[in-house]
Amino acid sequence: MCGLELYEAIRTRRSIRRYRPDSVPDQIIRKIIEAASWAPSSSNSQPWEFVVVRDGNTLERLSKTHAYAVMLKGAPLCIVACSDPERSPNHWVEDCSTAVENMLLAARAEGLGTVGSRFIGRTMRNVRIAFEKYCLSQRTSGL
Ligand SMILES: Cc1cc2nc3c(=O)[nH]c(=O)nc-3n(C[C@H](O)[C@H](O)[C@H](O)COP(=O)(O)O)c2cc1C
Repeated sequence: MCGLELYEAIRTRRSIRRYRPDSVPDQIIRKIIEAASWAPSSSNSQPWEFVVVRDGNTLERLSKTHAYAVMLKGAPLCIVACSDPERSPNHWVEDCSTAVENMLLAARAEGLGTVGSRFIGRTMRNVRIAFEKYCLSQRTSGL
């Protein structure tokens, strides 16, 4: 790890819900997504796709998808982890969760604050609307 040691990152990670507007360099975001891509998944299915959202309007629309997503408004970015049930029919939620946990710890190691949030079921329709410009695969049904 280039920043905090692993155990220190695990011990000190906290959910952060208010963010500075400072932009995060692409290089750091790539490292965080690469950390996600090394996560374990059932049958090594790796059913995930990641969408980096920096657009303020889209972040605001995502912030309205459910009551616990309000912190997205004003955040410099979010990374949406999508999981494809066709690639992992029985474990697509767990598979995506392992990847997200890797991202939360990698972000902590880079000195960034994060919080995880899950969009599923009826909130998915709102997320799809907020995401209309990103052309996600029709098969992608978990976020
Ligand atoms: C599956 C999952 C969903 C979560 N959803 C939200 C959420 O929608 N909004 C939020 O503010 N925090 C959310 N959290 C963060 C938890 O509230 C938080 O991890 C917990 O209170 C422990 O605090 P800590 O992360 O600071 O240790 C979620 C965490 C998990 C694992």
